[in-house]
Order: sequence, then C-alpha cells, then structure tokens
Amino acid sequence: MNNQTVLIIDFGGQYKELIARRVRECGVYSLIKPCDITADEIRSLSPIGIIFTGGPDSVRGSVYPSCTDEVFSLGVPVLGICYGMQYMAARLGGSVGSCDKSEYGTLDAVIDTNCPLFSGLECGQRVLMSHTDMVTVLPEGFSAAARTDLCGIAAMYDQSRRLYAVQFHPEVENTVCGTAMLRNFLYGICSAKGDYSMEDYLARQIQSVRKTVGDGRILLGLSGGVDSSVCAALLSEAVGDRLTCIYIDHGFMRQGETDEIKKAFGGRKLNFVPIDASERFISALAGVTDPETKRKIIGREFARCFEDAAKSCGNPEFLAQGTIYPDIVESGNNKSAVIKSHHNVGGLPKDLGFTGVVEPLSGLFKDEVRRLGSMLGLPDSLVNRQPFPGPGLAIRIIGEITREKLDLLRRADAIMRAEIIASGEKADQYFAVLTDTRSVGVMGDFRTYDYTLALRAVTTNDFMTCEYARLPYELLTRISSRITSEVRGINRVVYDITSKPPATIEWE
Ligand code: XMP
Repeated sequence: MNNQTVLIIDFGGQYKELIARRVRECGVYSLIKPCDITADEIRSLSPIGIIFTGGPDSVRGSVYPSCTDEVFSLGVPVLGICYGMQYMAARLGGSVGSCDKSEYGTLDAVIDTNCPLFSGLECGQRVLMSHTDMVTVLPEGFSAAARTDLCGIAAMYDQSRRLYAVQFHPEVENTVCGTAMLRNFLYGICSAKGDYSMEDYLARQIQSVRKTVGDGRILLGLSGGVDSSVCAALLSEAVGDRLTCIYIDHGFMRQGETDEIKKAFGGRKLNFVPIDASERFISALAGVTDPETKRKIIGREFARCFEDAAKSCGNPEFLAQGTIYPDIVESGNNKSAVIKSHHNVGGLPKDLGFTGVVEPLSGLFKDEVRRLGSMLGLPDSLVNRQPFPGPGLAIRIIGEITREKLDLLRRADAIMRAEIIASGEKADQYFAVLTDTRSVGVMGDFRTYDYTLALRAVTTNDFMTCEYARLPYELLTRISSRITSEVRGINRVVYDITSKPPATIEWE
C-alpha cells in the first residue's frame, strides 16, 4: 500500500477500531499498532499523523501503558484522545489529577476555535466525556482549548510542536462535530490528500495479487460467508479461472443457501467446485451430543475434506484466506479461556504444500468488506448476510443430529427468518434452535409429543456481548403459529430472553 497512513497507537481503548474506521471514512488509510511499537517501526510506516487512543488505565498509577517518548519529537502531528490526552500531559511535564466527580455522557463544552483542531466550528459543542482523571496542569508550551463545567482543560494544544489532545471522544456519534474535528486534524494539520478509497483499494489489491501469484493458481475455501465470498469475487477479478473455489456443503446449511451460493458463483469466471459432503459429516456425528465434540469433529472433517478436494484440483500453489483486519488486530491479544472452538473455513491445514498465502482483505474492516462486495457485484443477500457459524445448523440442534431433525430446523428457521424480514423489525442476528426437549401438546383432538423450538434474536454491535431483541408479541405469535401449524414435529415454540453474558448467542 502506498497510501498516506495515520498510525493509531493503542493504549487499550475500546474505541480503537472505531477511530481507525472514522479516519478511513474521511478518506485516509489508518493502521492500529500496540503502544509498545518502537520509534524505528513508527518511522518505517512514515505516518502523516499519529492518534493515541483512550484506555482504561490511569497515568497516576505506578505503571501505566506507555509508548516511546520519541513519538513527540518525530515531527509528526499527534492527537491524544482521553487517556491519550492524559498520557501526553504526563509525559511532557503537565499534571493529571482525579476529577471530584467522574464525567460520563454527552455534555456541553466550550471550545477555542483558534485551535486548528476546532477551526470552523461553533464555540458551543456537544461532546461525549467518559473519564475519572483529567489534566490539571498544562505541560509547557501548551494552551487549553476546551472546557466543560467539571473539566477546566478538556482539550489542549501546542501549535509549534503540532501536538493536540482532547479529553472527549471525537470518534463517537454523540460528539456531534467529532468528524469535523477529525477532518481538521487529518486535512488541516496533517495535510492529508484523501487518497484512500475502496475503488483504490480494489485496484491495488488486484495488482498486488497478480504480482504475488504470477501465473500460478489459487485455491480458496468458500463458505458463502461475507468474507470468503468477497475474497472470491476479488480474486476472480485478479486471476480469473486460475482461481478454484471449493464450497463444501457439510449438510448443515440453511434452507436454499447452497443454491444461492451456487447461483452467485456458478456464473463467474472462476472454477467453482461444490462438494456435497453431507453424508460424511452426518455419519461422523452419529450419536454425538457434546457441543465441543461436535465442533471438533466438524473442524476435523472439514480439513480432511478440503485436503482431498485440493488434491483432486491438482494442488494449486497459493492458498487464499478471507482474513480481515479485526482478525489481525485481535490475534495475539487473545488470552481468554476457550468458550467454544470456532470453526472457520480460514482454519485450514497449512501443510498442504502451498507456496504462499494470499489474504486480499486483511487491511479491511467488515463494513469496508461489505462495500467492496457490492462494488464487485455480489447480491445484497450475500453481502449483508448475518453471521452464520462455520458448523452451521449442527450447533443449533441440541443433542444428536439426524436428517429428520435437520429438516425440521431448516423449515422452522426459514419461516422465522421470512417473517422477521417481512415485518421490517431490526435484529443483528436471528435464528431458530431445535432443542432436545419434547413435550405434550394437543392438535385437533389428538395428543402430540413433539419437539420444542427456541427462537433467538439479538441486537449487538460486536457479537462479543448482546441483548435479546425486543421483538413485538404479534410478530412472535405469527412465527409461533406458522411453525406449529406448518412444521409437523414441533408443537411448542419458546423465545430466548437471555443476554450475553451470561448466555452466548448460539446455544452450543
Ligand atoms: P457466541 O455463540 O460465541 O457467538 O456468542 C458469537 C458470534 O460468533 C458466531 N459463531 C461462529 N462463527 N464459526 C464462526 O465463524 C463458529 O464456529 C462460530 N460459533 C459462533 C455466532 O453465530 C455469533 O455471531
């Protein structure tokens, strides 16, 4: 990439990705790096500007997240946000104290419009504050540039060294003119040219893939998810029919899904190899009820299946993966306990004798991947698809998996999804789960003893936590009555009203 770059130095703030996305939305490429980045590494990136994120720590503690002091003397403009402001003040000889009362929420601030960060804005601003520490004494050479009722120094700057800082969060929507402030930093202070766009990214990636691959061939595991689908469309533009996409149907896809994927890719200039492996997966899972064992078996079978398919395609030299930027930012930070073994098409064996790996989406956030997918002509249903777990419906059938249960779940799930779409109600992910509980019911004059189906619909920003979606009773009633009358074998429907935590989004 030869784009101008803004470097975001991460001090542990929850909004780091949001800052990076906002900068990109302003037409400037951004990269996030941990705060232990060295001065040489910073220089090698040649950033036009540096942004310090917020973070949960306090510079008043004996140890706190720090970065190299050289960052202040590189001649590159720096913008500190929240903790980033306190950090800047502490390192440059100012003081940071505790607020008498924490400031949380959207508040009124008075800004100094002589500060280049605030150029062209009104003096009165609504800003999002979220802090318990604040700068109490300015470092030498700095002037205050904003205040709120509780915080006398809510922004500061040293024009000669091009150092700027705000206690509030310009990256969030609640800071009404936040984007204008970021644009002032990028265009007014860092002299950005605005050379980053999706069209440009696409053109560069196509060029770079062609250069890496030469006249070699590429193999991609296509799951039908957003990332692998967009990856396939991009690579087919780059190398045409020297791309082979293996689509393994494990038998746990939703109703109509395999056909939709075949339709989206069947007509493109690439080798699309659909493999019906349902028998293999269902046999491997016979009698298995433990969720982790199910996931492990599916992951194992998937890898074997892919290996066989790669061999029969003559083992192309390059493996492609739909890795996206958040996968890279988060990897290495993950020291948490394994709650579920995620199975993804990306998690394939690397020892298949590939010469190299191509990951053309590895610089993009999810919303950018979706935009790229639309530019590449993929249908909306694929580009805006909600997440669907690699193991598919297998982890939405509690207990043993059988073809009969799969059929019940597929039909019920299709009804639920169709009704939610028709209602226009919004939820970020929704699906049905076939429980292994059977209960007594009555149909006409007869007793039934059938399965209980659970409906799950959640609202979430990042899928790390969620709230259950408050779907209207009328909609739930319609879904329930359609399922119980149209899907013989399900006589009871319940709605999952648990958040994450303590539950997870999927049931297994
Ligand atoms: P949980 O159930 O962990 O799910 O709260 C969080 C999000 O991840 C999706 N999910 C998966 N995605 N492979 C995936 O690619 C998996 O094995 C997998 N398991 C869960 C889930 O649908 C939700 O969006």
